[in-house]
Amino acid sequence: MTRQQKRARIEQIVDRCGADILDSEEYRQTDKYIQHGSTTTREHMISAACVSVKIARIFKAKCDQQSLVRGALLHDYFLYDWHSPKNTHPEKHPTRHSSYALKNASEDFAINPLEAEIIREHMFPCTLKIPRHKESWILITADKICSVKETFSKPFYADLVQELKHE
Ligand SMILES: [Fe+2]
Ligand SMILES: [Fe+2]
Repeated sequence: MTRQQKRARIEQIVDRCGADILDSEEYRQTDKYIQHGSTTTREHMISAACVSVKIARIFKAKCDQQSLVRGALLHDYFLYDWHSPKNTHPEKHPTRHSSYALKNASEDFAINPLEAEIIREHMFPCTLKIPRHKESWILITADKICSVKETFSKPFYADLVQELKHE
């Protein structure tokens, strides 16, 4: 498989597993918020989903790919600007935003228990509960990698992210 084919495969998987999320108006609103650098929260979550699929493929991890993608796509669905001066307790963002993301995701989308765990526990070790499933560990890793890259540069898979925004 060529590099181009591998990238197309990742895009296809994210698109297929998360179509209802990616196409929803609710999800589009996460583009209003900046996550890191100049990357919006929507771009960050889509990039984290692509990198999660890539990590699962590198390690040939037998995992629930659909739940991995959907949990990744919604892991930061907390729906506020954490840099804004209106956010009166920015120091609480690292420990609390995963619970807000889970609450909002449960209200707006049909999510299963594994997807809920992936979202709720993605900030480990800031949140103390140790994740039980490998899908959660894959997203935790992808999220950290994406966050560092976005702080200094464009998101991973920036071209795929643009296509997956379905605009
Ligand atoms: Fe997060
Ligand atoms: Fe994140």
